Amino acid sequence: MNDKELVANAALDYVKDKMIVGLGTGTTANYFIDALAKKIKSEKLTISVVASSTVSQERGNQAGINYISIDQVESIDLYVDGADEITEGLVLLKGRGYDLIKEKLLAASSKKFIVIGDKSKIVAKIGEKFSIPIEITPIAWKITKKILEKMSEECILRQNTAGDAYAITSYGNLVLDCRFKYDDIHELSKMISEVPGVFEHGIFLSLSDIAIIADNGKIRTITTNC
Ligand code: A5P
Repeated sequence: MNDKELVANAALDYVKDKMIVGLGTGTTANYFIDALAKKIKSEKLTISVVASSTVSQERGNQAGINYISIDQVESIDLYVDGADEITEGLVLLKGRGYDLIKEKLLAASSKKFIVIGDKSKIVAKIGEKFSIPIEITPIAWKITKKILEKMSEECILRQNTAGDAYAITSYGNLVLDCRFKYDDIHELSKMISEVPGVFEHGIFLSLSDIAIIADNGKIRTITTNC
């Protein structure tokens, strides 16, 4: 079992019968979706899922897991997802996929949010490895980009994987990937949120309860104090 598979399986311990579970997006989250589907079948559980993206929704569907649309829930019991960066203080960077809004809604509405990842995800400071994804409205994207450019070192309009068009989120928005110099991540998060045209960004503050991290087959957990 590789490290991603290991943390995905460790997160299964938190799944209980009759839960509504949020499905994450990415290679690590995919291992969780597959493992969850097996657990539901073998233990004959009644579990419903809400997906953070169309990709994870489809993966859940294919595995035959009962699906609820996000507009039908007020809260969920458990959300398990990967991240692009994780600090020891449980600040996360997410959003290499295109569904930032759903990811943050699921994180904020879950009774427990478990982030899973291998050791490569641990950073001392958010933004160390990746730019910060910012989902913006397309209606006046140049205005929003210009404002964010003034606040940052670099802001690039994200392209799709083929590189032949700009990336469009599930809600028809655009994504900027921006690099910032900053001292306080809370201040940076607030500053980005206040820019006109910004829908959501990839900094997740005080949303995750537990991180399950694997390093060459060894698992450790990071938990918040509260
Ligand atoms: C999706 O938007 C991200 O937040 C993912 O959770 C992240 O990219 C993790 O993906 P991997 O598990 O493939 O590294």
